[in-house]
Amino acid sequence: MENQDHFPDKFTEKSASVKHFFYMLISYLRNLISNPMRSGLAYFVVGLIAALLVGWVLFPMALYSRNHQPVDFSHAIHTDPDIIDGIEGDTEAERCSYCHTFRDDGSFTGIPNLSKCMECHDDPESPLGETAEERDFLEEYVANLKEVPWYRYYEQPDCVYFSHIPHVKNGEIDCSACHGGHGSTDSLPVYEKNRISGYSINIWGKNISGRKTNTWDRMKMDDCAGCHTINSHEENNGCFVCHK
Ligand code: HEC
Ligand code: HEC
Ligand code: HEC
Ligand code: HEC
Ligand code: HEC
Repeated sequence: MENQDHFPDKFTEKSASVKHFFYMLISYLRNLISNPMRSGLAYFVVGLIAALLVGWVLFPMALYSRNHQPVDFSHAIHTDPDIIDGIEGDTEAERCSYCHTFRDDGSFTGIPNLSKCMECHDDPESPLGETAEERDFLEEYVANLKEVPWYRYYEQPDCVYFSHIPHVKNGEIDCSACHGGHGSTDSLPVYEKNRISGYSINIWGKNISGRKTNTWDRMKMDDCAGCHTINSHEENNGCFVCHK
């Protein structure tokens, strides 16, 4: 019976201390807001902004090395049949295949060699257009028969096996599903390579939070496997299918 007497006392004590706690909290917050400099809120906010800036802007900037492509090649110009005679086709893939095609053994030619460019840009002395970009290209590469050292945005590490033919021919997947709008760009994006992992930003993901809005925003292991699952090709999700 002793307990029963005691209980209400303790209870009111407790609720009084809870009340007291909230009272303290509210007056503390009031003080913070009405007097930000002295209360330290200003320092907190400045510190928070600085931390966000470092985490979201400066860190990613320092994390990626940035390089400009040697020639600012325009896909938009070269895939427009109205501008360039000879590169035709009804579908996107047909126009692309003037330069990116398959050899007889099914392997993908990738980025074309200089000899492909020289089917049209054959005389370093006579440019086809008016731009300084083309004159620089002719002077530096065509005149010296020097291959252009392109940076490869989508390059995977050597341990990854990827072949275009099953995806493009059997899977009938559009280039844009994996490469976004690259095939219609007017100007080449800066090539950004992660200093730690060595991966290009196109593989590692453009968004530091890891959020992905388009299929082509990132091409890591889970992204490859995710598409196989969606397309009911889970048989390709064994380690030794992608790592031969
Ligand atoms: C006249 C030749 C030519 C045509 C036609 C062409 N490309 Fe390219 N493509 C290039 C060259 C040169 C590069 C290297 C520079 C660059 O990254 O854009 C390249 C690079 C690429 C890359 C980047 C690969 C990487 O890993 O860096 C993609 C993706 C691509 N092309 C897609 C396309 C698509 C899609 C089309 C059709 C709409 C197309 N290309 C048509 C010449 C061509
Ligand atoms: C089928 C013919 C053809 C092929 C193949 C071709 N080009 Fe061109 N290219 C042209 C023509 C035509 C122009 C001029 C377009 C204009 O400005 O009217 C041009 C323009 C350019 C320009 C200037 C574009 C600009 O931004 O103003 C560059 C640089 C260039 N080409 C590089 C290349 C490279 C590199 C390759 C090989 C990967 C290549 N071209 C393959 C026909 C071709
Ligand atoms: C299922 C996804 C996917 C599709 C569809 C796809 N690609 Fe790719 N592409 C890749 C991957 C992954 C790489 C990198 C391969 C590597 O490094 O081994 C790549 C690399 C490339 C490269 C650079 C290759 C090199 O050797 O430098 C070019 C050019 C390219 N793709 C063009 C195209 C074109 C044009 C199409 C449409 C006809 C296309 N791709 C369709 C995923 C795809
Ligand atoms: C947009 C969807 C998509 C993406 C992204 C994709 N795949 Fe695939 N992949 C497929 C489909 C569909 C097939 C089955 C094609 C067929 O019908 O044969 C396939 C088949 C394969 C195969 C088996 C065929 C072969 O070449 O032996 C391998 C390996 C493969 N993918 C590797 C990869 C890798 C590595 C990546 C990421 C770099 C990737 N894939 C990204 C859709 C995708
Ligand atoms: C659908 C294709 C696919 C499958 C299946 C797959 N991988 Fe990968 N793997 C990749 C790609 C693409 C990369 C490079 C991008 C990345 O790191 O995510 C990679 C990267 C890796 C790396 C890092 C290599 C490096 O140099 O950074 C390891 C380790 C690895 N995979 C192990 C595995 C193991 C173990 C399995 C089986 C459980 C597996 N992978 C299944 C596509 C695949």
